[in-house]
Amino acid sequence: MTRVLGIDIGGSGMKAAEVETDTGEIMSDKFRIPTPKPATPEAMADVVRQLTEHFDWTGPVGVGFPGVIQHGVVRTAANLHKSWVNVDGDKVFTEASGCDVAVINDADAAGLAEARFGAGEGIPGTVILLTLGTGIGSAVIIDGKLVPNTEFGHLMMDGKIAEERASSRAKDEKDLSFKDWGKELESVMMEIEKLFWPKLFVLGGGISKQFDRFEEYLDDVRTPIVAAKMLNRAGIVGAALAQT
Ligand code: BGC
Repeated sequence: MTRVLGIDIGGSGMKAAEVETDTGEIMSDKFRIPTPKPATPEAMADVVRQLTEHFDWTGPVGVGFPGVIQHGVVRTAANLHKSWVNVDGDKVFTEASGCDVAVINDADAAGLAEARFGAGEGIPGTVILLTLGTGIGSAVIIDGKLVPNTEFGHLMMDGKIAEERASSRAKDEKDLSFKDWGKELESVMMEIEKLFWPKLFVLGGGISKQFDRFEEYLDDVRTPIVAAKMLNRAGIVGAALAQT
């Protein structure tokens, strides 16, 4: 059995819990600290330290981070402070907390969790997870294996970035109805479908809890679509899987 502290970094909060990575279970209460503003490496490293201290943690830590991560190094930070770019996230968080920290992209984390323990479990072929939140994150899983750092939220469509049209932030900011927002999301999904022909789409992020309110507006997508099963657990459980 392997216990890892999973930390899910979002645009508004940094959430942690103890995870049993063999089963995908959360073994403790969740603890959340707001994401600092500005969300610089120093300020966020200090929050990682506080989170590990809250759990009296000295073991391995996995972090899900909202940007492209190559071998622990942050390559993009669309919704955080730009000074993250090219910072070694593994190193900065390890030094701040004194724990062994491994960082992966947040959507890749959620995708791994859904593929191992949730909606994509046991499904052969290509499964694409989209997380709908501040941005749109994506994970491509083929026969249970992750292809890391796909960034479908940054597809350009009609001169606009996909996540500016169809994230749940876009829905809130533009005060879109489920119908108008659902149709934006549908066009993003059809673009991805055209290129990848996946076997299944899994939709995650907080808004996926209301899947029944927008499912009907995605009817031109030919690929089957399901809501994520692990809901708000996927981010933390998936973050912990960075250590496996
Ligand atoms: C980032 C992705 C991230 C997604 C969800 C996007 O803006 O580029 O790396 O997975 O937001 O947080």
